[in-house]
Amino acid sequence: MFKLALSLLSILPFILSVRGCPGEDHDHTHTEHKRAFPQAALTPPTRALEWGDVNIIHTTDSHGWLLGHQKSSFPEPNYSGDLGDFASFVSHMKEIALRKDVDLLLVDSGDLHDGTGLSDGFPAGGVDAHESNKFLAQLPYDVMAIGNHELYIYANTLDMYKNFAPKLKGRYLSSNVNITVLDEHGNVVSVPVGNRFAKFKTRKGKKVTALGVLYNFTGNDKNTTVQKVADMVKEKWFLDAIQEEPDFFLLAGHMPVQRDNWPLVFNAVRAVHPQTPILILGGHTHIRDCVQLDGRSMALESGRYMETIGWMSMKLDRKGSAKNLTFSRRYLDPNRVTYEFHTKQRNFTFDTLQGNSISRGLKALAKSFDLDFLFGTAPRDFTISRDPFPSNGSLLTLFASEAMPVALSINNTRANIPNIMITNSGSQRFDLYGGPFTKNDQLTASPFADAFLFIPNITAGIANKVLPALNGAGSNQRRALMSELEKRESELYGRGYVDKIYMRWLEEMDRRGGVERRAAQNATLGYVTQDSCPGIGDDVVHAPLPFFSSPDFIGSTPPNVSDDTPIDLVFVDFIEKQLLQILNTVQTTKNYTITDVQTYSPVLSNAVLGVYAQQAWN
Ligand SMILES: *[C@@H]1O[C@H](CO)[C@@H](O)[C@H](O)[C@H]1NC(C)=O
Ligand SMILES: *[C@@H]1O[C@H](CO)[C@@H](O)[C@H](O)[C@H]1NC(C)=O
Ligand SMILES: *[C@@H]1O[C@H](CO)[C@@H](O)[C@H](O)[C@H]1NC(C)=O
Ligand SMILES: *[C@@H]1O[C@H](CO)[C@@H](O)[C@H](O)[C@H]1NC(C)=O
Ligand SMILES: *[C@@H]1O[C@H](CO)[C@@H](O)[C@H](O)[C@H]1NC(C)=O
Ligand SMILES: *[C@@H]1O[C@H](CO)[C@@H](O)[C@H](O)[C@H]1NC(C)=O
Ligand SMILES: *[C@@H]1O[C@H](CO)[C@@H](O)[C@H](O)[C@H]1NC(C)=O
Ligand SMILES: *[C@@H]1O[C@H](CO)[C@@H](O)[C@H](O)[C@H]1NC(C)=O
Ligand SMILES: *[C@@H]1O[C@H](CO)[C@@H](O)[C@H](O)[C@H]1NC(C)=O
Ligand SMILES: *[C@@H]1O[C@H](CO)[C@@H](O)[C@H](O)[C@H]1NC(C)=O
Ligand SMILES: *[C@@H]1O[C@H](CO)[C@@H](O)[C@H](O)[C@H]1NC(C)=O
Ligand SMILES: *[C@@H]1O[C@H](CO)[C@@H](O)[C@H](O)[C@H]1NC(C)=O
Ligand SMILES: [Zn+2]
Ligand SMILES: [Zn+2]
Repeated sequence: MFKLALSLLSILPFILSVRGCPGEDHDHTHTEHKRAFPQAALTPPTRALEWGDVNIIHTTDSHGWLLGHQKSSFPEPNYSGDLGDFASFVSHMKEIALRKDVDLLLVDSGDLHDGTGLSDGFPAGGVDAHESNKFLAQLPYDVMAIGNHELYIYANTLDMYKNFAPKLKGRYLSSNVNITVLDEHGNVVSVPVGNRFAKFKTRKGKKVTALGVLYNFTGNDKNTTVQKVADMVKEKWFLDAIQEEPDFFLLAGHMPVQRDNWPLVFNAVRAVHPQTPILILGGHTHIRDCVQLDGRSMALESGRYMETIGWMSMKLDRKGSAKNLTFSRRYLDPNRVTYEFHTKQRNFTFDTLQGNSISRGLKALAKSFDLDFLFGTAPRDFTISRDPFPSNGSLLTLFASEAMPVALSINNTRANIPNIMITNSGSQRFDLYGGPFTKNDQLTASPFADAFLFIPNITAGIANKVLPALNGAGSNQRRALMSELEKRESELYGRGYVDKIYMRWLEEMDRRGGVERRAAQNATLGYVTQDSCPGIGDDVVHAPLPFFSSPDFIGSTPPNVSDDTPIDLVFVDFIEKQLLQILNTVQTTKNYTITDVQTYSPVLSNAVLGVYAQQAWN
């Protein structure tokens, strides 16, 4: 009852904001996290889930999005379910599994850190995701695997080792990931962050052997160790662990199901057990994907940011059979309409006590982190790939042409010297929606704390050539750059950058008739998945989001000065090496090195949008 009263109150601003005209000023006092209860007219899924003997609910790459997506612009409401709603969903599904007398497992494939204010908005002295992970630990996860975002900062890994893994009671798996700590005698030791593997029985008595594998990640912090997947499968502990035949293998791991190293693990298991069912739950590239490596296995990857809940089911047959098994998979949009549809619950019967308590706890955490701190009111949506670049709706245009120049000129003694400012488009992580622009929005949209540097006294004629050259325009530089870029791309992949793959996925779904599908107006916007498993994977059929590509590097509008005017060439430290390289190809009179580079502003790139919003959106 308490929850009901609360919800009715908190739903009001949501209704008001969706009914308001776009561009109309939003009410400044209602910036509290909205509880986006779906409206009655929402279209639910149409197909029931296919249950098997073994059923899995899968999450991956949640990156702190535990309050769900709370903006009202399309397609955000589709992902509006928070972790409390998800907890209620899981417990209703568990009841259904009991009634059907089948197994239902809950599996996560890692990347719990870095993504929203709930994980990253902690006060000084805190540890990323330490608080938000406490809520995840309340869910009945059977297996969780470590992700690369658990390893960029030693303190985060240590927190997982000391505080989080113990809550999973042997089911937090890090097969090829170690942490270096002091043991009780003060000796330096390298030990798995969680467990290397787990063997357990399901409620129905099925024997499971589970792993938690991380792809060949190279960007980990000192005192953490990631063993190459190819080396892991040769380890004695690994061969010992897979020797005994379970009823099925559960290979969870932070590794994409295509174009990565799952086949190494799969083949190692198959070499010993040619017929045993293998269920693979992957992640990391933030896409929806599915592949069957043979007829007795399935590999599923379930998107990102709590925009997707994965479902996999398998009907078992007798041991020793070599026939194809019956599998199903589905990508659910996490919202209450979806959850209620699949659990046959109504609005008023859906919430569990635990679900309510998680939702309340998350909101209290957001409050204690001051995530609703208001920088200003965004006049419209700004997107990374749904608007052309450059355009008024492009977040990259906003950042490069408006926000950077404004934010970096404040309190800056060099503000009156003409300049060009350059950054990488990967510096923006998430769309910025119209309405209140809060501390939480800043943390999700633009999280990377890069410093701004500059080289003074570059003539405008030269400085103007730098950005096009960085983007590989000049045909001479192009060939050299292509191999350089390819090398860099695979290096970046190793270090954990997956945006390119996610963007290519969006581009491809838009190319498959995006314009026509949107024009038909019979489907709402969302992901349109085409994977290599049989049948339609998306739970709700959508029209794809429009997609526009953008260059790797973006810059401010060049100043209107003559070519021989000396100006400041400003850029983020993240691209320093490439920028110097390019600067030394567009001119050869001087060999520029890091000794020519100075600090431009104390404002870091993750503060730019907030500083700008305070100035321009108030
Ligand atoms: C669900 O509950 C909310 C708030 O309690 C209400 O606004 C909404 O209309 C309800 N939806 C349905 C389908 O009953
Ligand atoms: C998804 O969002 C769109 C637009 O906000 C809405 O029309 C649709 O009904 C939503 N789907 C579900 C299942 O909630
Ligand atoms: C990981 O820890 C185990 C247990 O201490 C140790 O035997 C192994 O050598 C370590 N692996 C790596 C790659 O550091
Ligand atoms: C790694 O951890 C050990 C034990 O805490 C410490 O002695 C050592 O200095 C650390 N190494 C680095 C490179 O930080
Ligand atoms: C991972 O490392 C191994 C060994 O260095 C290599 O053979 C493999 O190709 C790498 N995997 C990927 C996806 O790069
Ligand atoms: C069994 O499954 C595999 C992999 O999905 C497929 O290639 C093969 O055609 C299937 N065989 C039969 C008899 O259905
Ligand atoms: C973009 O914004 C500018 C400045 O607000 C405005 O003058 C222009 O008309 C807008 N362009 C479009 C296509 O909306
Ligand atoms: C600029 O300086 C003023 C006065 O010292 C200060 O209050 C303000 O926060 C500074 N702004 C930025 C963006 O650094
Ligand atoms: C600026 O660069 C020009 C050559 O491009 C040089 O002649 C001049 O001395 C430089 N000025 C300063 C202040 O470094
Ligand atoms: C929408 O309409 C198009 C064209 O009439 C049709 O091909 C498509 O199947 C429809 N999609 C849905 C989800 O009903
Ligand atoms: C650039 O400057 C020149 C000379 O001051 C002026 O004539 C011209 O209108 C300016 N162009 C723009 C786009 O401001
Ligand atoms: C430019 O300077 C760097 C750093 O001192 C040096 O490694 C490089 O060889 C120099 N290049 C040329 C063409 O002088
Ligand atoms: Zn991720
Ligand atoms: Zn990842």
